[in-house]
Amino acid sequence: MNFKKNILCIGAGYVGGPTMAMIAHKCPQYKVTVVDINPVRIAEWNSDHLPIFEPGLDEIVKNIRGRNLFFSTEIEKGIQEANIIFVSVNTPTKTFGAGNGMAADLQYWEKTARQILKSAKSSKIIIEKSTLPVKTAQAMERILTHNHQKIHFDVLSNPEFLAEGTAIRDLENPDRVLIGSHQTPDGIKARDELVEIYANWIPPKNIITSDIWSSELSKLVSNAFLAQRISSINTISALCEKTDANVTDVARAVGMDHRIGNRFLNASVGFGGSCFKKDILNLVYLCRNYGLHEVADYWQGVVNINEYQKERFVLNMLAAMFNTLAGKRICLFGFAFKADTGDTRESPAFFIANRLIEEKVELVITDPKALKNAKNDLDEFKEEVSFVEDPYKAASGCHAIAILTEWVLYQNLDFEKIYRSMLKPAFIFDGRNIIDHQKVFEIGFNVYPVGKPSLTHF
Ligand code: UDX
Ligand code: ADP
Repeated sequence: MNFKKNILCIGAGYVGGPTMAMIAHKCPQYKVTVVDINPVRIAEWNSDHLPIFEPGLDEIVKNIRGRNLFFSTEIEKGIQEANIIFVSVNTPTKTFGAGNGMAADLQYWEKTARQILKSAKSSKIIIEKSTLPVKTAQAMERILTHNHQKIHFDVLSNPEFLAEGTAIRDLENPDRVLIGSHQTPDGIKARDELVEIYANWIPPKNIITSDIWSSELSKLVSNAFLAQRISSINTISALCEKTDANVTDVARAVGMDHRIGNRFLNASVGFGGSCFKKDILNLVYLCRNYGLHEVADYWQGVVNINEYQKERFVLNMLAAMFNTLAGKRICLFGFAFKADTGDTRESPAFFIANRLIEEKVELVITDPKALKNAKNDLDEFKEEVSFVEDPYKAASGCHAIAILTEWVLYQNLDFEKIYRSMLKPAFIFDGRNIIDHQKVFEIGFNVYPVGKPSLTHF
């Protein structure tokens, strides 16, 4: 079959996989190939068990795979054939040298740029899809323009705003698609080619453009604002617990002001995920680099409050359970960083598990989708942790349950049955405020929500 365009995506991860599946699904006239250096990942994308769980993704991939969506390890061939290349390799936080623990580790991006340079035999549009600090596109451009063959590369920024668990919905119906380009004739031509792809299913008013730096920065700032809302409501949850106010009532009243809005105001055990912390730390690093220390401190505060909230949750457990957790059996309901994903990157559950192990707790972990990742994450604690798929079996014989992921399934459990199987007094710490606290209290549990008065039988 003759395709109108060949699109390549380098990096078959949480961003690259679903995004390319959606483009291929909406644009049957384009051939979309996703490549990765990791052959296991590619084999999984080509199998019945995709490497990531995302509602709706399986159906789309299985429908179009082999038709106009392909997964491959042949990076060089992919580059040669492509007119348009998306780069969505990982950009973790640096764990060495300058900017250690703060700045983005750009080695994967740079390697990819060099690989494109080495393999390309014709001009191409390169689209930065991963989250990167500002001015990375410029660095990439410098690498790509220093070529001997005089091939022309146009670099665009097209940040991804999808959230895990709702990736397919977000890709199908995004609030906006943002494309950053140079304001030169070449830059605008490249930008328009990308606009044309998205225009296959996204209304023109939702496709917005800017210069490259503003586009890159918008991604960091969007995530920083979202995380800031969570940290803000989490600070109020601490105050509510001290003063017997109810954080859900406060959030509802505040969120009904349409200037504020009601989303992302759920107090919780803390935010997780691969983006928020990393992006804020990038922002902080950038500000520090430019000598904007007050601005850097402001955003660093959002991360600090998140760490505080996770630690506070553990200390609340300790205080409630008579100041000793040693030798107690505690079941964690949920290990994913949020519901509807198997992803555990930066999950608050990981921090809490580690802290509870420090307190010499015997941990039982249950999660409908994240047990495989949880096992990898806690590999060094084989003695201290067990993993049980069935939440009823997991809770049986435990002193306490801590709900750490907002899986709907935990709302509908038979808590009478669970209560009967647990040691008494039985405790529930609801780190997501998802269950009916009064109901489980009446069953016999001592209940500790986030940001609300506890309900105890003592
Ligand atoms: C985020 C952004 O939402 C998305 O636009 C960007 O592209 C990537 O980063 P993601 O990390 O997948 O997406 O999930 P998100 O829904 O934003 O949740 C992040 C964390 O915040 C989760 O741990 C979630 O449980 C927590 N959260 C969210 C709260 O604690 N309270 C809330 O009210 C909302
Ligand atoms: P994200 O959440 O940003 O999508 P992931 O870690 O899920 O991040 O995916 C990034 C993918 O990029 C990984 O599968 C990794 O193997 C791949 N990758 C990293 N460097 C390269 C490279 N130079 N060439 C091809 N793929 C790469």
